This record gives sequence, C-alpha cells and structure tokens, in this order.
Amino acid sequence: MPLRYPALPRNYLSMEALTAQINLTEAELKLLQTLVYQECGMYFDERRAHFLKDRLQRRLKACQLDSFYNYYRLLTSREGKAEMAVLLENLTVNETSFFRNKPQLDLLQKSVLDELLRRKQERRDWTMRVWSAGCSSGQEAYSVAILICDALAYYYLRNPLPFDMPSPKPLIPPPWKLEILASDISYASLRSGAEGQYTDAQMEPVDYTSRLRYFEKMGEKYAVKQPLKDMVQFDFHNLKTEFLPRRNDIILCRNVMIYFDEAEQKRLIEKFYHCLNPGGYLFVGHAESLFGLSTKFKMIHENNGTAYQRIEVGV
Ligand SMILES: C[S@@+](CC[C@H](N)C(=O)[O-])C[C@H]1O[C@@H](n2cnc3c(N)ncnc32)[C@H](O)[C@@H]1O
Repeated sequence: MPLRYPALPRNYLSMEALTAQINLTEAELKLLQTLVYQECGMYFDERRAHFLKDRLQRRLKACQLDSFYNYYRLLTSREGKAEMAVLLENLTVNETSFFRNKPQLDLLQKSVLDELLRRKQERRDWTMRVWSAGCSSGQEAYSVAILICDALAYYYLRNPLPFDMPSPKPLIPPPWKLEILASDISYASLRSGAEGQYTDAQMEPVDYTSRLRYFEKMGEKYAVKQPLKDMVQFDFHNLKTEFLPRRNDIILCRNVMIYFDEAEQKRLIEKFYHCLNPGGYLFVGHAESLFGLSTKFKMIHENNGTAYQRIEVGV
C-alpha cells in the first residue's frame, strides 16, 4: 500500500512525541539535502551530514511536525518560505572576525589599492566599490572600510587633488567615494552587521588607533561611528542566484565557498568574474583557491597574502 502523508496544515504532536527523536530516513535526508543545495549552494557531504541531521531535528520539533517528509512539503510550499529562511539561518556557519587573514588584507591595502587608485585616478573615476559576499556579522566589511579609509588618506597625501576640503575633514577625501556592500543569506547576521556593535572579545584584533578613530563606546560594547557605518550597506543576496551586484572593483568572498561543492564553486567564480569591473580583484578564504576552478583570473601572491585579478579576455 502506498504511504500517505498528511496534508498541510501540519499535524501537531503530543509532548512525548515532541521530546522524542523522529526517524529521518535516507530518502528523506537526500530530499532535504538536495533542497538545501538547490536553495543556497551549501553541500552537506558525509562529513557534515550529522550537522544537517541535527539542525533538521531541531526545526522539525520547532515546527511541531511528525515526519521529515511533511517538513519537506512545508519547505516546498508557498507558506514555507519563512521556514526555509529559518532553516538556512540554522545551517550557516557565521564565524568571523575583524582583520581576518591579515597578510591578505595587507596585500589588499598596500599593493591592490595602490594599483586600483592610480588606475581610477587616470580615468577620473572617483568611486571605489567593494562587495563583502557572505559578510556574516559585518566585521569583514568594516575592516575593509577602515583599511581603505586609511589607504585613501595616505594616497591623497601623496596625490593631492584640487578640490576643497570640507570641514570637519571627512573620512574619505573628496572627490573620492567609497561604497561597500555587505551581503549574506542570514538575516540575523545582517541585522547585527547593520547594528555595528561589538563586544570586547570581538574587538580584540582591532588596534587602539583604529578603535579611537572609528569606534565609540556604547555601554559595554564598541559601536562603529556613523561616518564609517554610512559607507557600508547591508543587504540580502543569495550567492546561488544569478542576479548579483555588478560593477565591483573588489569582491571578498572568504570562507563561504568551502561549504559549496566544486560545481557550485565554479559557477560562483564565473558569476564573480562578471560582477567585477575589468582588472578588478577577488579575495577568497585562506583555505580556498581558484586553482582548477577558473582560468580567468591571475593569482597575485605577496608576503603570504593572495588575491586574484580578473584577466581581460582578448586584451
Ligand atoms: C564563515 S562565514 C564567513 C564570514 C566572512 N566572510 C569571513 O571570512 O570572516 C560564512 C558566511 O557565508 C554566508 N553564506 C552561506 N551561504 C551563502 C549563500 N548562498 N549566499 C550568501 N551568503 C551565504 C553565511 O550565512 C555566513 O555568514
């Protein structure tokens, strides 16, 4: 006899059933694994399947459903969109820190920015656009904002321009402009990034000079000062989709692709190629590389820092 599953709306469970673990069959696991992959690119192989199973059990209980097939049906239904967002939120690893992978950020601040600023100045293009893709709670985007503000001030000292300097002196000397987009699929992360308040422990990698210049004390926490905050815009973008923000000079997508399989990594790198301006730069995580995934970027390696520059085909 074919199995019959109860239709939505869901079946509510007794207290005993709620505390018991509900059996997750191999077939149900495969269905949910595939659904998550299709939705956000995260791939749970055997090594990480226990994490997926654990989070699925939790969500099943929270939704008070009696089978994983019913949970799958909820996720794929129109009314299940909010639950899909919650599930993805539960599956993401949001670990991050200020100035993560310092040698790479040194390369960005010293060599990459110098080259980019010089090239932009020649074209009288004064806007620098940076995208932190998979930004978690914002530390990466604010770190880069700090590095670029400092680098631009120093660049301006050596290459002054005939523009009036407003008073008080802005963080970015005119006519230069800095626009940083910080995106993620976790709404909780985006909220905390936009709030821009960090604990003592989170602030540990930030030196005193930067704390004084870019943060103010708010109770127990350090809050990003408004002028720096204004440069960073937090927004939802799922890297799995085709419509991603274009015309970037720099993209940082660090410690995100490690959760994707090779096919998805290749697709994402191809999308990043098109989201970069000609000669733009891509930064990936310490344990990630473009080796074997794309030939459209030139690797730059200096003092333990690595970046990838977009190669202009046919140039
Ligand atoms: C480990 S954190 C990395 C944060 C930061 N880039 C860093 O290196 O410190 C990975 C982030 O990628 C986000 N993420 C995972 N899959 C994503 C997707 N398909 N689209 C956008 N963000 C995603 C997660 O929500 C998480 O905040």
